[in-house]
Amino acid sequence: MSKITDEIKKRRTFAIISHPDAGKTTLTEKFLLYGGAINQAGSVKGKATAKHAVSDWMEIEKERGISVTSSVLQFNYDGFCINILDTPGHQDFSEDTYRTLMAADSAVMVIDASKGVEAQTRKLFKVCVMRHIPIFTFINKMDREALDTFELLDDIEKELGIATCPINWPIGSGKGFRGVYDRQTEMVELFSDTHKGTTQGDVKEISIHDPETQWLLGDEAKTTLDEEMELQDGAGAEFDMDMVRKGELSPVFFGSALTNFGVETFLKHFLDMTTSPLPRMSDKGEVDPMVEPDFSAFVFKIQANMNKAHRDRIAFMRICSGEFEAGMNVYHIQGGREVRLSQPQQMMASERKIIDRAYGGDIIGVFDPGIFSIGDTLTLSKDKFAYEGIPTFAPEHFAKVHQIDTMKRKQFVKGINQIAQEGAIQIFQEYHTGMEEIVVGVVGVLQFDVLKYRLLNEYNVEIRLDNMPHEHIRWIDNDDIDLDKIIGTSDMKKIKDLKGRPLLLFVNSWSVKMTLDRNEGLVLSEVGRS
Ligand code: G4P
Repeated sequence: MSKITDEIKKRRTFAIISHPDAGKTTLTEKFLLYGGAINQAGSVKGKATAKHAVSDWMEIEKERGISVTSSVLQFNYDGFCINILDTPGHQDFSEDTYRTLMAADSAVMVIDASKGVEAQTRKLFKVCVMRHIPIFTFINKMDREALDTFELLDDIEKELGIATCPINWPIGSGKGFRGVYDRQTEMVELFSDTHKGTTQGDVKEISIHDPETQWLLGDEAKTTLDEEMELQDGAGAEFDMDMVRKGELSPVFFGSALTNFGVETFLKHFLDMTTSPLPRMSDKGEVDPMVEPDFSAFVFKIQANMNKAHRDRIAFMRICSGEFEAGMNVYHIQGGREVRLSQPQQMMASERKIIDRAYGGDIIGVFDPGIFSIGDTLTLSKDKFAYEGIPTFAPEHFAKVHQIDTMKRKQFVKGINQIAQEGAIQIFQEYHTGMEEIVVGVVGVLQFDVLKYRLLNEYNVEIRLDNMPHEHIRWIDNDDIDLDKIIGTSDMKKIKDLKGRPLLLFVNSWSVKMTLDRNEGLVLSEVGRS
């Protein structure tokens, strides 16, 4: 037992989120360099191969040069075993991205210092807030002209509704970037471009009280820093570890991933402030990895056809307790039987590697013969508990699906159901008719193309999609409601999901409000409970 808990204590599992181009890949790459997982910058995303991230499993990713799926990277640093869950850096992300956040214990948000909070960050952030996980902010690209520091912090607080606490403070930006000041240690870390591909820059640190600091920074920069610090100390939130752990206060760091400045400082503080895997909720109460000795995990993502020749399907699971050994038999709660977990894999930089051991906090991908669904629990525990389900997030784009060759009905139904089971899309039916009219809902419009492409390539079925004007979906939380009696707006559409649960579609948020006003006691929710 103690060896297992020792291993789990070393684990830190976090998701990295940002708007495209803020520098997430560059920062991840620098982390891996520190951990010695790669020995040259550029291995994560080769410049020559353009924008391919680590996980270009699907052809469509290659064609478009973007990453559709999210991947997991593991590396060791300073006695810690770190799992980074990458999230697709494209605006057309899918529900996968949301689910990835369900598997993380904390999140690192990368923000471009010249832009502040951008659209995608806002969306992903909402999920972090829902889960109350700690959120760390890395304000990147300080070597370029940045927005005013107070403005940046204000932006985060206003846009995301979370308090901020800068751990260090930038001294200038762009050509005038001199470094960062650590508010706790009162040391100035002087900016030097220690550059791409190496971790060995000699970081120069000097106390703020050392007379030489004024000379090194220049009079103007030093005066500005003094003034800004006075303002911040007077008005800013105080550091409170408890609030950080609850996701109510985000520690903020400044740096420049490209020039490798501030990355290691950030990593060290981050590891210091985060915890090893915490208890997770199940139907039998909290399962604490420090107490529960047996293996348990939940599936948060299913990826089909990573290797087209084999038509394989990989179920990614987050281990929550105990130890995993390759080939072990575990109990699949939802399936009601024992299964053997074979071909376990982990992502290492650009490769998948077969592993034979993993621990609570780790993410593994195992071969799935088509039996797993998102949210399923696997365990060796005699208690046979099930982890809390993963919520179904509201799709924002809808289309009616028309099959072009109606002779291939069977393949069509099989294909669309399998793809929905993986969670790439959600499918619905007209409320009063059967399967004839299928409505598909997605979080990012790219998933429409993925659906068309996969149905054609994997199931030989051609479809046409007719986009619908609806953008808002609501689950009905009342148990005892007669759907026929709901008085909606003219644009409202009644549909049901695969479990037969009724849902409402609306074109705009005004209609949602009108419908709520017109039906007393109606409770609508943006998230479907599983
Ligand atoms: P992403 O994963 O969040 O989409 O961003 P990525 O790391 O790919 O970075 C986007 C661009 O920003 C890249 O330039 C990268 O080199 C640059 N960048 C990242 N961090 C910094 C930084 O701290 N300072 C500056 N000045 N630039 C930074 P690119 O020209 O689009 O790509 P590449 O040719 O450099 O790969």
